[in-house]
Amino acid sequence: MAGLSDTFTLTNGVKIPVIGFGTWQTPDGDVAYNSVLSALKAGYRHIDTAAYYGNEESVGKAIKDSGIPRKELFVTTKLWNDDHGYEKTKMAFGKSLDRLGLDYVDLYLIHWPNPKEFRSNWQKTNAETWKAMEEFYREGQAKAIGVSNFRAKHIDALLETAEIAPMVNQLFLNPSDMETGIVDFNDDHDILTEAYSPLGTGNLLKLQPVQEIAKKYNKSAAQILIRWSFQHGFVPLPKSTHEEYIKQNGDIFDFEIDKSDMQTLDGLQGKAGLAIDPDTTDF
Ligand SMILES: NC(=O)c1ccc[n+]([C@@H]2O[C@H](COP(=O)([O-])OP(=O)(O)OC[C@H]3O[C@@H](n4cnc5c(N)ncnc54)[C@H](OP(=O)(O)O)[C@@H]3O)[C@@H](O)[C@H]2O)c1
Repeated sequence: MAGLSDTFTLTNGVKIPVIGFGTWQTPDGDVAYNSVLSALKAGYRHIDTAAYYGNEESVGKAIKDSGIPRKELFVTTKLWNDDHGYEKTKMAFGKSLDRLGLDYVDLYLIHWPNPKEFRSNWQKTNAETWKAMEEFYREGQAKAIGVSNFRAKHIDALLETAEIAPMVNQLFLNPSDMETGIVDFNDDHDILTEAYSPLGTGNLLKLQPVQEIAKKYNKSAAQILIRWSFQHGFVPLPKSTHEEYIKQNGDIFDFEIDKSDMQTLDGLQGKAGLAIDPDTTDF
């Protein structure tokens, strides 16, 4: 039976635990500290944060206080939209490492492909940003580098000048939006797909088909959705600030959703929101 410390292997050989713990909208301070500590106690070994979440300091403190050897953990953070470009990326990455209190991260991601400020020249800005990220990778300050919310055309453009291809693409991904086109693109390019908002930021939990399937397997709706993601081969990143939910969300390895129930879940497209189109966001 698989477990929270089981891993997939990225193209560069780095191991990534099959479930990550999300921290978006988890306030810095006690809430972030306690939830990350609870996750680590519950057996999660993969933590997902971002400069934008404003909680890197508490996440880093919880990691340190957990006493778990650094090499057993997988920590991701992300470059925010204000900081694209070679010099700004270097500054922003240094600040993230300082706030986390770490001398390396396991994965550094470009959070969005074309922030409003850079939308007229996103190809050039991403190429410069990526150059800085390749340096972090070569210097061992980021064990893997990747992107988030990138569509195929954004990755294709990046690959025109990249010396190192992205290893991960983190996407809004759950039964309400399976993002099939970009997931297939990731697979074709050996890019691992991470599934953010696996519970649809909570919006999928009350859907009747999800509730019915949960009842059938004697599991919670959250467990069904996380297991669905796992069975599709994605790396789900569930977030919670409640210890009981945190434990429950990591406990999805002792059952299997059958084919017909997987198909029912696959059929929930659009029922609880869709991925934001990066080309039309106002941020
Ligand atoms: N790259 C990006 O652009 C991006 C964007 C969004 C998210 N993410 C990442 O993905 C992570 C997860 O996505 P998300 O934050 O949108 O939300 P999510 O994991 O889809 O859902 C979280 C919500 O579900 C609730 N919940 C969690 N487990 C539950 C359970 N067992 N029973 C009932 N309710 C439960 C949480 O409540 P409580 O917190 O109150 O417990 C919270 O309201 C983020 O935290 C972040 O790390 C990345």
